[in-house]
Amino acid sequence: MVPGSWPILGHLLLFHGSQPLHITLGAMADKYGPLFTIKLGSTKIAVLSNSEMARECFTKNDKASSSRPKLVAIEHLSYNQAMFGFASYGPYWREVRKIVTLELLSNRRMELLHDVRVSEVQASTKELVNLWSSQKDESSGYVLVDIKQWFAELTFNMVFRMIAGKRFFGAMKTESEEKAERCVKCVKNMLRLLGVFTVGDAIPSLRWLDFGGHEKAMKEVAMELDKILTEWIDEHRQMMDLGEKDANERDFIDVMLSVISDAKIDNVDADTIIKATILNMIIGSSETTTISMTWAMCLLLKNPRTLEKAKEELDKEIGKERCASESDINKLIYLQAIIKETLRLYAPAPLTATHEFSGNCNLGGYNIKKGTQLIANLWKINNDPCLWSNHLEFTPEKFLTTHTDVDVRGHHFELLPFGSGRRVCPGISFGLQMIHFSLASFLHSFEVSIPPDEPIDMSGTPGLVHAKATPLTIMVKPRLSLSCYETRFLFNFDRKC
Ligand code: HEM
Repeated sequence: MVPGSWPILGHLLLFHGSQPLHITLGAMADKYGPLFTIKLGSTKIAVLSNSEMARECFTKNDKASSSRPKLVAIEHLSYNQAMFGFASYGPYWREVRKIVTLELLSNRRMELLHDVRVSEVQASTKELVNLWSSQKDESSGYVLVDIKQWFAELTFNMVFRMIAGKRFFGAMKTESEEKAERCVKCVKNMLRLLGVFTVGDAIPSLRWLDFGGHEKAMKEVAMELDKILTEWIDEHRQMMDLGEKDANERDFIDVMLSVISDAKIDNVDADTIIKATILNMIIGSSETTTISMTWAMCLLLKNPRTLEKAKEELDKEIGKERCASESDINKLIYLQAIIKETLRLYAPAPLTATHEFSGNCNLGGYNIKKGTQLIANLWKINNDPCLWSNHLEFTPEKFLTTHTDVDVRGHHFELLPFGSGRRVCPGISFGLQMIHFSLASFLHSFEVSIPPDEPIDMSGTPGLVHAKATPLTIMVKPRLSLSCYETRFLFNFDRKC
């Protein structure tokens, strides 16, 4: 146990600054070692910060460390743990995770959703070209764009179309601006509130006071999201009854409706399972992918030689007569290395979600008691100077030379942006596919440059996800002939706002 614990509060006061939690915990690891324990109120939390501890935890002790605690935020925002990502380890979690892996995130489903991803990237690219032609600066030939916002809108459109058949932004949106805004705001609020450790978590007897009004805010967001999800599910049921969709047009809600039907799992009813799982897919995929692309772009703009090499690869493998397609990604080895290096330096989820030990075990020579919580500091592991030379430098080349065999899928314990073990992220392929294709298309389609005298701010937000704190305004102009940007895919929506 690290020193500095206060009676009743424990180490709660250490985490009240504006510094991101992974940095505070990383500095504590430098002082107290790769496994230390803190107390938040009456709750004991073990913090793991190097690859050896991660290996021991997520192999030998994986089963014992794979449960989740029932925190106040989880109770309100995850349908009381019906969201499998926050469910305790047990039959419910196993069954729903199996359905998600086999039915929603399988290679077959990814193939069926190919046209959705392609049409979204094409539509966003075309919209950016249109913006350039109407608003470009005549002398420089560039238009100024907040590319963080552009990535966010592209990702939201891709994610919401694959999950719910909805398009929120751009000319062909299916939802009114008001509905889109309401939904995006709720998802962002939910992610923010999921990162809040309430006084009720630390000192259960004081929960009723609801200091800071967090529980009230959680209940409001949960109710608002439930309304939206119930509406979507009713709409999908109606469409299903009318037989209006082909098998290859089915989104995740359609698939969940046909797989779960009206079955219960571990006493949770079908509608709750579907709403909770769909919401889990949305919060798992939307911010993480946007954040990864934004950090990658920041790093490329700060490292112009790497950006040049990426463009050389794109031109060599794709040419300049057409836009990128998903089948090009396998050939873009350098671009894949850029993403790996971005995930190493700027993991969008720098800490795992909180685990809970469901049995006593021994980790790193310490006896850990059942009920202790666990956080793995993935950012600290990925940036360990003992394992990565020049660990703070952006050098994608390492994945083509000294570290060719290191991947991000949770088997190489020196690089764990998606976690590892039973609770490893199930959306790795889904996320990487969106990131690789969107970034390749953007870099291949547009020339980019930093506005003069505007250095790139690399400060991040505190909280569950580590996003870039400020907008990323850059100069953009097309680099292919304009006929290449004409879209080939038609949108097939029957419900427009
Ligand atoms: C760059 C993209 C992504 C990153 C870096 C990322 C990272 C992570 C991390 C670190 C965890 C926590 C592991 C743990 O608690 O030990 C996690 C869990 C999870 N992720 Fe992702 N993720 C990404 C994309 C996605 C996508 C696209 C989806 C869904 C389509 C998704 C769904 C989930 C779910 C459901 C869990 C909880 C799994 C469980 O508890 O069984 N993630 N992710």
